[in-house]
Amino acid sequence: MNTLSSNWLGNSLPRIVQGDIEYVILCYNGDLFLVENACPHRSGSLKHGLYLTGDRIECPMHHKIFHVEQLIARPTTLRLIPQPICDNKAEDQSNEVEN
Ligand code: FES
Repeated sequence: MNTLSSNWLGNSLPRIVQGDIEYVILCYNGDLFLVENACPHRSGSLKHGLYLTGDRIECPMHHKIFHVEQLIARPTTLRLIPQPICDNKAEDQSNEVEN
């Protein structure tokens, strides 16, 4: 059952696919993860699930509830690591040839 504090996980976001796997993006403890968009029960689309309080996700197919840690622990999960924005000036200077 939905609660007032629940949110849609990301059904309006564009598809994120790498290889044969579709992902959904999750934030947990300040880190971003790409988690397989397939429920551990019967592969329901987690992207169409609900983000509940207590870092739990409710699958839309059979309404089983999973903790985000459980979903992140799957071997297909990718952790997104922020990269600094490239400083083009510094890059241009490093490419200069000394005579
Ligand atoms: S497929 Fe997700 S609860 Fe069954």
